[in-house]
Amino acid sequence: MTPLEYDRAFIWHPYASLKDPPPVRLVTSANGVNLTLDDGRELVDAVSSWWCVAHGHNHPAIVEAIRRQSERLCHVMFGGFTHEPAVELAQRLAGIAPKGLNRVFFADSGSISVEVACKMAIQYHVSLGHPERNRLVALKGAYHGDTSLCMALSDPDGMHTLFKGIMTRHFFAEKPDAPFPGSAVAPVRTAPEQPSVFIASLQRIFDEHPGEIAAVICEPVFQAANAMNFYSPDCLAEMRRVCDENGALLIFDEIAAGFHRTGPLWAHQSKTSGNRATTPDIMTVGKALTGGHITLAAAIASERVAETISSGRPSAFMHGPTYMANPLACAAALASLELFAHSDYAAKVVRIERAFRDGLAPLRGLANVKDVRVLGAAAVVEVERLPAHRDIERVIDGHGVWLRPFSNYIYAMPPLVSDEGTISRIVEALSDLARSEPGPAPADSEFHE
Ligand SMILES: Cc1ncc(COP(=O)(O)O)c(C=O)c1O
Repeated sequence: MTPLEYDRAFIWHPYASLKDPPPVRLVTSANGVNLTLDDGRELVDAVSSWWCVAHGHNHPAIVEAIRRQSERLCHVMFGGFTHEPAVELAQRLAGIAPKGLNRVFFADSGSISVEVACKMAIQYHVSLGHPERNRLVALKGAYHGDTSLCMALSDPDGMHTLFKGIMTRHFFAEKPDAPFPGSAVAPVRTAPEQPSVFIASLQRIFDEHPGEIAAVICEPVFQAANAMNFYSPDCLAEMRRVCDENGALLIFDEIAAGFHRTGPLWAHQSKTSGNRATTPDIMTVGKALTGGHITLAAAIASERVAETISSGRPSAFMHGPTYMANPLACAAALASLELFAHSDYAAKVVRIERAFRDGLAPLRGLANVKDVRVLGAAAVVEVERLPAHRDIERVIDGHGVWLRPFSNYIYAMPPLVSDEGTISRIVEALSDLARSEPGPAPADSEFHE
């Protein structure tokens, strides 16, 4: 049997049925923005392999860092031990995190870092003598991961509805209704300028559940996997205000949007209309942290949160994944942060944004296109209905561009090192898809990212 036949016989792929599954392609190597397939063809990875390969695949500096580290120490438990890559990485993360966030808890995936952040918020209130403050507020349209607490904080009508019955009930504010200024390429949305409906709904939750809420969690500015929604940074300032007035913590999940995806290093650094900076109490990072070379994430907490937990009972923070702070991953992240520090990605992303805007503008007004929006290195064409699978495959193979549309979204989030030629190939592929015949109404299994 060929590797693909073995794959078909033994492997379960994410968000996929075993019955009549869409094809999988066999990748043999990768370099820069390109994936190489077993038959020698190359595909531009226009989704940065689920948004993490910021510097391009197999970046020599990151590969070398992993190789060097592998000769010294591949893994050691983090309970009772530490190691230099973790120490150095924590220092660097604290240096680039928002002011006041300097306590780093490493995790082995984005979802786990979100679980950790939420547990920190709950344990913080336990330590203050308020165990009844154990509910969280998330946003409709949110996605925070696939583990059970993360599912319970992701859009209740999104990809995890199936598991509603077993999820702890938390509270959901409305999807932020004020778009990120200037993100609409085809301004068909008639959303208000002010974050009115959203803030009112958030305020209502606090009014109706006084003393119950530990924290509000959101993906700042860019709700990715469940909504592909770019919203105004003013909403962040309002969340901060409501949290402060009600004694709740604020958690920013920067896993998808961080590391320059929307422009600045952190998405929450986008300017509000009042030019205010909004700072969370806890922030999660993952995905591009290692440049997409090996899994690593972190929850970074303020000293106040860490001190309060450490002064409570129990005084230990109750979490500890086996592979936390894996030395290979920390070494990769250090090399990745070095690249972020010296590559002027903010300027690169401005160029990518402009190319997407200009290239996708002609899609406005197409019958199947509901909205076209671009923010930083993320471009979204929202359609009434996705094209049929065969059309998606035709576009991927025909243009040599790997895209993975889901729900109603045809989108690209390419590596931040993509040059003009790469972006224009991606634009052509997106445009071809947007102009294709709408396919049948999606089955449930086709909803997901
Ligand atoms: C905003 C956000 N948070 C958390 C996660 C979960 O990260 P992971 O897939 O590494 O568990 C994702 C993944 O897409 C995400 O987009």
